[in-house]
Amino acid sequence: MTKRVIVTGGSGLAGKWVVEDLVEHGYEVMNLDRVPMPKRTARTLITDITDAGQVFNALASSTAAAEFVDDLEPKPIDAIVHFAAIPRIMITPDNEVFRINVMGTYNILDAATKLGIRKVIVASSETTYGVVFAHRHRNPQYFPLDEQYPVDPMDSYATSKVINEVTAKAFHARTGSDIYCFRIGNVLDPEDYAKFKVWTKDPGMRKRIAWSYIDGRDLAQACRLAIEKDGLGFEVMNIAADDVSSDVPTAELLKRYYPDVPVKKQMGEFETLLSNEKLKRLLGWKQQHYWRDEAKKHG
Ligand SMILES: NC(=O)c1ccc[n+]([C@@H]2O[C@H](COP(=O)([O-])OP(=O)(O)OC[C@H]3O[C@@H](n4cnc5c(N)ncnc54)[C@H](O)[C@@H]3O)[C@@H](O)[C@H]2O)c1
Repeated sequence: MTKRVIVTGGSGLAGKWVVEDLVEHGYEVMNLDRVPMPKRTARTLITDITDAGQVFNALASSTAAAEFVDDLEPKPIDAIVHFAAIPRIMITPDNEVFRINVMGTYNILDAATKLGIRKVIVASSETTYGVVFAHRHRNPQYFPLDEQYPVDPMDSYATSKVINEVTAKAFHARTGSDIYCFRIGNVLDPEDYAKFKVWTKDPGMRKRIAWSYIDGRDLAQACRLAIEKDGLGFEVMNIAADDVSSDVPTAELLKRYYPDVPVKKQMGEFETLLSNEKLKRLLGWKQQHYWRDEAKKHG
C-alpha cells in the first residue's frame, strides 16, 4: 500500500533530499513550502506554516501528484517530516526566527494531532546544546554531546528548537503518537565537500559546531527509517556523521580548542563529538557518505 508523507520545507537545502529519497522509495510525497522545489521531485502546495488555517487545510488535502489524475479524493496521511523553518540566526530579525519556528511547529503538531496523523519527524538542531550561536565562546558542560545533556541555549533560533521539542512532547502526551525530534548537525550538499580544502587549513573554523556534519542524503535516510520505525513514542535523537569534519584527530581537536571540557568516554580517532549512538541503536541508521570519500569526488 502506498504510504503518504507530507514534507514541510522540501524546497530547502535539507528537505529536498528527504523528498527525493522518499519518492525513490515509493512514497507519495507532497511538499508544503513558501516556495516551489527547484527540482520538482514532488508537488509543492504553497503553504505558510505560521497560518494555522492553511496548515489544517493543507494536511487535509489530496497528495495526488497533479490536478488531472483520476483520484483527487484526500487520503489519510501516514507521516509528516517537518523541516520548514528559518534555519539559523542572522537571516531574519530574532523575533521572526522565533515566531516562525515556534508557531510553525505548533501549527503542524496541532493539526497532525487533531487530524489523526500519528507520526511526525521534527527538525531540531545541534544548536540546542547552546554552543553554536552563543554570544561569546562558550564551553559545553561535557563531550560528546548526547541527548541527556541539559540544553540551555541563549539565542533565538536554538531556543525556538528547544521549545519545539517541548511542544512535541506535549502533543505526544495527548495521544501517544510517535513524534521524533532530530537534533541535526551541519547539513552538507555534495558541492559543499569542495570547502574541505579551506576547512582543513583552519580547523578552528568549525569549532562552534564541534566539527559535526551530516550529508543531506544520510539525513534523508534517517527520516525514512524514522517513518518506517513505529512505536518509539516521543524521542530526541542527534543526527551526525560518525566522524568529525576535520583531518585533525578528535583528541587533538579537544586539546587545542576545548581543553577544559570533560570528556565522558574514550573517543575513537576521528569520532564525532555529536553522539549518534542513539540514532544507530533506535533506527539502525548507517552512514553512507563520508567527507574523505566525498571530498575526493567533489573536491
Ligand atoms: N542546514 C543545517 O545545517 C541544519 C542544521 C540543523 C537543523 N536544521 C533544520 O533543518 C531544517 C531545514 O533546514 P535547511 O537548512 O534545509 O533550511 P532552508 O532554509 O534551506 O529550508 C527551509 C525551508 O523552509 C521554508 N519555509 C520557511 N518559512 C516557511 C513558512 N513560514 N512556511 C512554509 N515554508 C517555510 C523555506 O522556504 C525553505 O524552503 C530546519 O528546520 C532547520 O532549522 C538545519
